[in-house]
Amino acid sequence: MAEKDFRKSVVYQIYPKSFCDTNKDGLGDIRGVISKLDYIKELGVDYIWSTPFFVSPQNDNGYDVEDYYNIDPRYGTMADVEELIAEAGKRGIGLMFDMVFNHVSTRHEWFQKAMEGDPYYKDFFFFRKGKPDGSAPTNWESKFGGSAWEYVEKFDEYYLHLFDVTQADLNWDNENVRKEVQKIVRFWMDKGVKGFRFDVVNLISKGAFEDDTEGDGRKYYTDGPNIHKYLKELHDMTFGTDTQIVTVGEMSSTSIENCYQYAGRDTGELSMVFSFHHLKVDFMGNEKWVLVPADFQKLKDIIFEWQTKMTEHNAWNAVFWCNHDQPRVVSRFGDEGRYWKQSAKMLGTIIHCLRGTPYVYQGEEIGMTNTDFTDISQFRDVESLNHYCILQEKGLSASDAFRIIQIHSRDNGRTPMQWDGTKYAGFSSEDGKEPWIGVNENHTKINAGDQLKDEDSIFRYYQKLIAMRKELDVIAYGDIEPLAEGDSSVFAYRRCWKGQELIVTANFYGKEYEWKKAPKLEGFKCVLGNYPDTKIPENGGLTLRPYEAAVWYSPQI
Ligand code: GLC
Ligand code: CA
Repeated sequence: MAEKDFRKSVVYQIYPKSFCDTNKDGLGDIRGVISKLDYIKELGVDYIWSTPFFVSPQNDNGYDVEDYYNIDPRYGTMADVEELIAEAGKRGIGLMFDMVFNHVSTRHEWFQKAMEGDPYYKDFFFFRKGKPDGSAPTNWESKFGGSAWEYVEKFDEYYLHLFDVTQADLNWDNENVRKEVQKIVRFWMDKGVKGFRFDVVNLISKGAFEDDTEGDGRKYYTDGPNIHKYLKELHDMTFGTDTQIVTVGEMSSTSIENCYQYAGRDTGELSMVFSFHHLKVDFMGNEKWVLVPADFQKLKDIIFEWQTKMTEHNAWNAVFWCNHDQPRVVSRFGDEGRYWKQSAKMLGTIIHCLRGTPYVYQGEEIGMTNTDFTDISQFRDVESLNHYCILQEKGLSASDAFRIIQIHSRDNGRTPMQWDGTKYAGFSSEDGKEPWIGVNENHTKINAGDQLKDEDSIFRYYQKLIAMRKELDVIAYGDIEPLAEGDSSVFAYRRCWKGQELIVTANFYGKEYEWKKAPKLEGFKCVLGNYPDTKIPENGGLTLRPYEAAVWYSPQI
């Protein structure tokens, strides 16, 4: 079979806990995903990436894996997962599984044995003596707040956890760890899985255990010393033997130079990478728990830098706005009020015409918004709850801390999928248990059922964007040239491929804008836009209405 061309593919991400609940226990499940496969098929995607549903205590919603070979009963059974793979396959959709190999749950057998003192398993983790004064080995901070080291009295040692205290980091320098990981990947390949997303995979190779005098410690373990060696080995021993398999690495605070390697055409590591620099434009440096307006210029600079440099190095990006760790994009960079529909479509247009494989996160295709929570007790995410306390310890008032959580919490992307206008939004039936996290009140206005009936809906527009990538080679294969780089309102670019040309023009704001230096569009036709009557201006220039986006195509230059 020819190699799978992931450049024409689009991936739909599912957070199963919040997608669809079929047994009324308030938690989404695998059978819920199966029941919605026709909906996903209708959108036109090629892959489903599901976040983890392996056995887990769920302290980080499944990113704390206790057993990689079995399905958490809350989500269903192995038979359900096999049926999901088969049923998706019948619809031409491949399953991508989410592999969390930087750490395991402290309930995992390996960690349990380590805690019993078994030296073979202790070396699966990073147990280290504290400093002479008894404090932690380094001053590194956990990504979820607090120290990255947890003291174990029995050994008078600490173990490393870059995330929650129940997520112990695995020691990839131990060959036995790498072999166990390979076994897990091969197990799921044998089940017919067509792709993998590797969780925070650029953190697996730890460097020196030293105090970080400038930051939180990330420079000692991000894109670490043996990272390329370990990824190449994983590739060669597992998915690299099957050209049909697509892989994406989640790269935390990575550098673009490393990504040329991770996702280069012939480097033998991964198919593509998620990087997050463009989603920190409303942070202060790396500090997420602040309120600062999004910096539009920075957003463009970062996206264009990654687009052009990855092209130059023959490497491939995953392109996206949303996932289960991010607020909803229409609330973040668009307008969830007056221009809800236009801005959601505009943001979709920008992503889907870029060079890279687009990812659509459940609910993005219907323009779902941030939560409407008014009290901290409604939040569930461990990161949000930790930081709510930390912010107050730093001196913020409860209401200021709450405001920051409201804007940045990962729970914004985790409220139940809005299928219809009924009590629980069709996520589960009205006589079932209350969903594990609150349904947004706006499900009576924003839901999939209504949008399927409306030709002008965000869903229908996403469907067109996805179909367009398959029809027009220039979107999948073309080079990219940024346009309007310094312009304070316009996001625009040109794509070129074998004489075909495509220009994307978008007004990023809710005010009409005269773009005087717009490129000449003679010979182009508007193939998609979020206003019904987009026309080529007669006298040059382009007037962009609020959040107006258009895709212009010319088969021949
Ligand atoms: C990734 C996941 C996130 C999780 C973290 C630790 O960033 O996307 O949800 O909390 O890794 O596994
Ligand atoms: Ca359920």
